[in-house]
Amino acid sequence: MLSSVLRCFVAAFSVLLLNLATAGATHAAVAEASPGAALFKQHCAGCHINGGNIIRRGKNLKLKTLERDDLATVTAISTIAREGRGQMSGYADVLGADGDQLVAEWVLMQAQNAWTQG
Ligand code: HEC
Repeated sequence: MLSSVLRCFVAAFSVLLLNLATAGATHAAVAEASPGAALFKQHCAGCHINGGNIIRRGKNLKLKTLERDDLATVTAISTIAREGRGQMSGYADVLGADGDQLVAEWVLMQAQNAWTQG
């Protein structure tokens, strides 16, 4: 009797764990699968890891900073991604046809989420 109750608990617990693991994997897969995220990782994260800026700390990609610099739009960010700005050079050559747009949309979304996802 006791052992069957135990077994039932163990089974229920495993299902729960499995669900948690799958949910985590799905979330990670979505973040990885986003082309904007992949472009950012490849071409921007070297300097802007987690939305920061390792070269000019004050010029980061946090929403407050983008708003301060009037850059909190996909258009403004995609222009910088393509052409650069100040000490940052442009990445038009490596981003591909829609890459500037995709990466800019992703950056703005991350900024709006305080860089807590992906
Ligand atoms: C080699 C380092 C480096 C890489 C790689 C890089 N950046 Fe930058 N980024 C900078 C620096 C430095 C600045 C500050 C430029 C300035 O104003 O002098 C900057 C500024 C910016 C700003 C403006 C921030 C603000 O509020 O002033 C945006 C937006 C931005 N980068 C987006 C990107 C995106 C998108 C990518 C990838 C396509 C990228 N950066 C790749 C170094 C880099």
